[in-house]
Amino acid sequence: MKEIYTIKNGELYIEDLSAAELARRFGTPLYVYSKQAVTERCGEIRETFLERYPGRAHASYASKAFLTPLFARLIAEQGLSLDVVSGGELYTAMRGGFPTERIAFHGNNKTIEEMEAAVDAGVGRIIVDALDEIDLLEEICPRYGRVQPVLFRITPEVKAGAHDAIQTGHRGSKFGIPMEEHILYPLIERAIHSPQVEFRGLHFHIGSQLFEAAPYLEALDHVLAAALEIRRRFGYSVPELVIGGGFGARYTDEERLPYAGFLDPVMARVRAWREENAFEPELCVGIEPGRSIVAEAGVTLYTVGSVKETPGGPKYVSVDGGMSDNIRPALYGAKYAATIANKAGELPDDVVTVCGKLCESGDRLIDGARLQCAARGDILCVFSTGAYGYSMANNYNKIPRPAVVLADGKDAQLLARRETYADMIACENM
Ligand code: LLP
Repeated sequence: MKEIYTIKNGELYIEDLSAAELARRFGTPLYVYSKQAVTERCGEIRETFLERYPGRAHASYASKAFLTPLFARLIAEQGLSLDVVSGGELYTAMRGGFPTERIAFHGNNKTIEEMEAAVDAGVGRIIVDALDEIDLLEEICPRYGRVQPVLFRITPEVKAGAHDAIQTGHRGSKFGIPMEEHILYPLIERAIHSPQVEFRGLHFHIGSQLFEAAPYLEALDHVLAAALEIRRRFGYSVPELVIGGGFGARYTDEERLPYAGFLDPVMARVRAWREENAFEPELCVGIEPGRSIVAEAGVTLYTVGSVKETPGGPKYVSVDGGMSDNIRPALYGAKYAATIANKAGELPDDVVTVCGKLCESGDRLIDGARLQCAARGDILCVFSTGAYGYSMANNYNKIPRPAVVLADGKDAQLLARRETYADMIACENM
């Protein structure tokens, strides 16, 4: 396998493209994705999960991490299914030609219009998250002549995740149906008996940026117990369980666990449980990785502007973007690493704060960044920005969203052009 990020003639290359040249060609800030990096991660999922457990494993890419129509097409080609959480994500995926039967529709507060769009499109699964969604589906489905396959997202009461804001599986979370007996089972009973929905099983997502199997196994035990209880009460064996996403990515010096490190123990636990409980038929286990597929595959290129020493404070290297294209440091204290692309061969012997150009003191991308000596006009590359960067980008200070390029060997394909000022006020009255 070829290295994705290399240094040639003192400059940073992404696949076979010079980062500084990409910056000149497409302007900055610029998100660049490596196609090879994306396909390697998808390939790992196919080889170590889908093909290792044929008929028992299912994988959906969580498109909230990064989605454009062309990117949806790439994911479809890679043999993965897709998760969406809004009408907008569904629309984007469909515009990319993503097969709708391979789409799962999520969300803790799906609007009626979104549910109608999902049913109308023929999505493969709707993940029921609110107590009245079965009522709504019973009203919507007949109008479209559909029987909708559903999973129930439950809250397994496991606390896991790198930051409070990305923990989702704990008691008191806004996501999921509480596992309280008097709430969960009557709802499942209704779904099992409803002619409008096909109850397929249970779903959980416990959090993000995880590096061990233990919290998945802990949550799994809760849903396996619930599956037995469903069989005992209603004589129905659920055919599916989804264990969510959350598989960790490398931002700075984290050690990424291969998918098998999470999934082999999960599959072993499920198998042992099935044997112990004579659970038939086969149980299919689904995953929903987002970040782990795209985070390390994407970088952001910026042009360095002012370089400012402060008395007693940090030295600021300012770039032409910031929390408008990457809000994660401000929102979660997320850490990143960077290099100066056109000086990548030089020693990083300066310690600086990389800040953006937005009117917020908190608009700092990296504190204590080890960088080569930066000067106006240099191209700064921040690594591992492929997940939740573009998808959470905003127009604060009326800064246009950057363009997005997919590097593929020597080729660079534009996935999204840069927004113009006119785009930004296209919805605003004159
Ligand atoms: N499945 C469900 C139901 C989810 O809610 C999520 C993420 C995923 C899958 C994918 O998780 P991943 O594999 O990407 O960790 N904006 C935050 C992350 C929010 C994640 C929300 N749900 C961030 O930038 O870290």
